[in-house]
Amino acid sequence: MNTMDMFRLDGKVAIVTGGSGVYGQHLCLGLCEAGALVIVAGNELDACEAAAEKFTKAGHKAVAMHLDLSKEESINALANQVAEQYGSIDTLVNCAVSRAGNQNLEDAEAELWEASERINGTGTMLMTKAVIKYMRKQGKGSIINISSIMGVVGPYFPMYEQNGSVSGLEYTYTKSAMFGMTKWLANFYGKYNIRVNSISPGGNNIAGTKDEIGSQALIDTYLSLTPMNRFADEHDLKGPVVFLASDASRYMTGQNLIVDGGYTNW
Ligand SMILES: NC(=O)c1ccc[n+]([C@@H]2O[C@H](COP(=O)([O-])OP(=O)(O)OC[C@H]3O[C@@H](n4cnc5c(N)ncnc54)[C@H](O)[C@@H]3O)[C@@H](O)[C@H]2O)c1
Repeated sequence: MNTMDMFRLDGKVAIVTGGSGVYGQHLCLGLCEAGALVIVAGNELDACEAAAEKFTKAGHKAVAMHLDLSKEESINALANQVAEQYGSIDTLVNCAVSRAGNQNLEDAEAELWEASERINGTGTMLMTKAVIKYMRKQGKGSIINISSIMGVVGPYFPMYEQNGSVSGLEYTYTKSAMFGMTKWLANFYGKYNIRVNSISPGGNNIAGTKDEIGSQALIDTYLSLTPMNRFADEHDLKGPVVFLASDASRYMTGQNLIVDGGYTNW
């Protein structure tokens, strides 16, 4: 097996949930550029169609599909449609996120926490359940859970206090829970040649703009805590996702790749 050929994804089918989001698009493009047919899935169909069109215009294979992770029928319909239409589901990237429950503990409302968890916890579990039966039939598959530095370390609150923003408890809870889910799935499905890993990105340069964050002081603090002194750009997750989706990582499962410019090194 030639080393560089092991990274190729020609003929493979990948579903990316939240594929029209900021990191979702970076991940989709990485998989497309490695040769995969990418299903750009999410609850904002117009945005998924716009992203898929951008990728196809650049010569890649991408299709937009509607997915509402709060509804089991929608999740099952997507998995069934992809398997029937394209013959396999080789990679699932669980990237979609709800931030409805982004609150500090003493402001937390059960209804908003549960609305987030319906997507981030239950939705991720049901999506994985819907594709795993196809991966078992195929005798192979790769599942990649997009966690966060916020699953690896707790929030550095003085930074968020600089502009009164919140890094909520539910987000840290759900992102760290992904590591447990990753290990459980990896251990259960290893014998079926289904690998399950996670990626923990740092902040990206769109989420990291002053318009988005509203405070230069917060940006400066974030960068001062990041040895590489920059936010992630549109290329930084491409290599890691292609590595985990492809045969280049064929003996690797249950692991977490931290891609954060060193933010969590301290
Ligand atoms: N933004 C960052 O700096 C950052 C840092 C570390 C990790 N992450 C992680 O990366 C992933 C993407 O983050 P982002 O900031 O690019 O997100 P984003 O807000 O740009 O996109 C979120 C996506 O999730 C989709 N989504 C939300 N609810 C859904 C539902 N019910 N059904 C289907 N899709 C739904 C949206 O349509 C959207 O495409 C998340 O898992 C996030 O935790 C982001």
